[in-house]
Amino acid sequence: MSSSRKRVAILISGRGSNMRSLIEAAEDADFPAEIALVLSNRPDAGGLAVAQEAGIATAVVDHKAYPKDRAGFDAAVDEVLREAEIELVCLAGFMRLLTPGFVEGWRDRMINIHPSLLPLFPGLHTHERAIEAGMRLAGCTVHYVRPEMDSGPIIAQASVPIAFDDTPETLAKRVLTVEHEIYPLALALVAAGLARVENERLVIDPSLPLDTTDMLIAPSFGG
Ligand code: GRF
Repeated sequence: MSSSRKRVAILISGRGSNMRSLIEAAEDADFPAEIALVLSNRPDAGGLAVAQEAGIATAVVDHKAYPKDRAGFDAAVDEVLREAEIELVCLAGFMRLLTPGFVEGWRDRMINIHPSLLPLFPGLHTHERAIEAGMRLAGCTVHYVRPEMDSGPIIAQASVPIAFDDTPETLAKRVLTVEHEIYPLALALVAAGLARVENERLVIDPSLPLDTTDMLIAPSFGG
């Protein structure tokens, strides 16, 4: 397995807790992906130090060096990814909108985690909006990236209950625990070539046992 592991870059802007869950999963030699690079658009992203401690190469492409030039910023990111011979990209709290050209260049090879049950609540402040809408469930989604923000074929989702006394902060914490479960599972599916997109929906390789597939789509909430 190890020789065919896919080379993955994780793009972050902040603390990188999802990045850490991917790094930890990939420490298993049987995991079908290796984390070859962590790239941040912010030089002060906390996750960069975490990656370095784990012995992973890091890069910074500071978006402030590309004022009003999203295409220039994306081209610089693209160059770093290609130089590192990256095969798959994981967005993990990467807070930049990517240009359609960049997104299309990585079509079906770039995935993202979003802290809501998409297509509900794309964008920011998802937990606050879920509480305000009176939802009883919240959750998270890993999806292939398409040019429209927080859209694209869904790979995995997990849900958690919303408590009556939840604040956006307490709910975010609960959702984050399942984010850390499903992102490695979704990446494993994609990196192992067990997931593909057909008519903009996910198709899972029939060789996967049904119970495994259930677990991948909605892991139980253990907390
Ligand atoms: C997560 O909630 C993720 O779903 C969203 O941004 C947050 C990043 O958190 N896209 P972290 O940096 O992975 O801790």
